[in-house]
Amino acid sequence: MRHLLDTRTLARDDAIAILDVAEDMAATQEREVKKLPTLRGKTVVNLFFEDSTRTRISFEAAAKRLSADVINFSAKGSSVSKGESLQDTAQTLQAMAADAVVIRHGASGAPHTLATSGWISAGVVNAGDGTHEHPTQALLDAFTLRRRVHGAASRGRDLDGVRVAIVGDILHSRVARSNVWLLTALGAHVTLVAPPTLLPQDLSRWPVAVRYSLDEAIAERPDAVMMLRIQLERMNAAYFPSEREYSRQWGLDPVRLAALPDGTIVMHPGPMNRGLEISAAAADSPRSTVLEQVTNGVSVRMAVLYLLLAGERTEEER
Ligand code: CP
Repeated sequence: MRHLLDTRTLARDDAIAILDVAEDMAATQEREVKKLPTLRGKTVVNLFFEDSTRTRISFEAAAKRLSADVINFSAKGSSVSKGESLQDTAQTLQAMAADAVVIRHGASGAPHTLATSGWISAGVVNAGDGTHEHPTQALLDAFTLRRRVHGAASRGRDLDGVRVAIVGDILHSRVARSNVWLLTALGAHVTLVAPPTLLPQDLSRWPVAVRYSLDEAIAERPDAVMMLRIQLERMNAAYFPSEREYSRQWGLDPVRLAALPDGTIVMHPGPMNRGLEISAAAADSPRSTVLEQVTNGVSVRMAVLYLLLAGERTEEER
């Protein structure tokens, strides 16, 4: 693997290969092997132009557990605030001999630009770009689902026939986009659930069903409900129901939690707006996989860094 920029172009077999390596990584963590020597001498740069808690820390933990050196770059407090361009920032990292650059950026397509510009020779991992994609989040979500469905027999398996309802602010969600492409490539049936104003307009090309009612979606007995953060910072009054109205109609409140079929899991990528899209009762319930997703994220990101920096390269990539 040369770069990981999206899940839209990630083939089913390549996705399963990443999830299988993540299983190997998880097995080392579960055996309490603190560090593997695999990436000793490699340098991973976390280049974050947008805020992050889970993704940045998770990539840092993943790189360190593989014995890589890690440089954390946050746009806040850097020369970006003096107007330095992405190109000059990237070339500075190149001069510091970065082997992999993990980038989060507010502009959709920034990781692709970095990977194809020729400014750097490092492998590039998209850690979230604008409203476009967040591929490692989708991979850790798929990993979590696969473990819940197949348990110890997960290796080599896909998500054929698994039903996932993705609920909430689809319009602004890179997590939703990456999950739609990845989960459907793995054979899952995805239903998007949202008010019409929080859905993209070009849905005809998405391999999904759409519901406007969460109660209707729950009645269809999904295996997982993935609640999305309402991105209040990107809203304007034209397309957002009031918070009270949203919570009443699309929030996973205690009544809807109780209506979920036995075995249905509650997922959320975080950060959560408790009391808006998800109640505390749902977030903290035994059905919730929120913290399991965070734990799995480290194994998945170890797998991605491993495949990028130590894995076999194809003829084309050499
Ligand atoms: N899920 C996720 O991307 O969280 P952070 O914004 O905290 O990285």
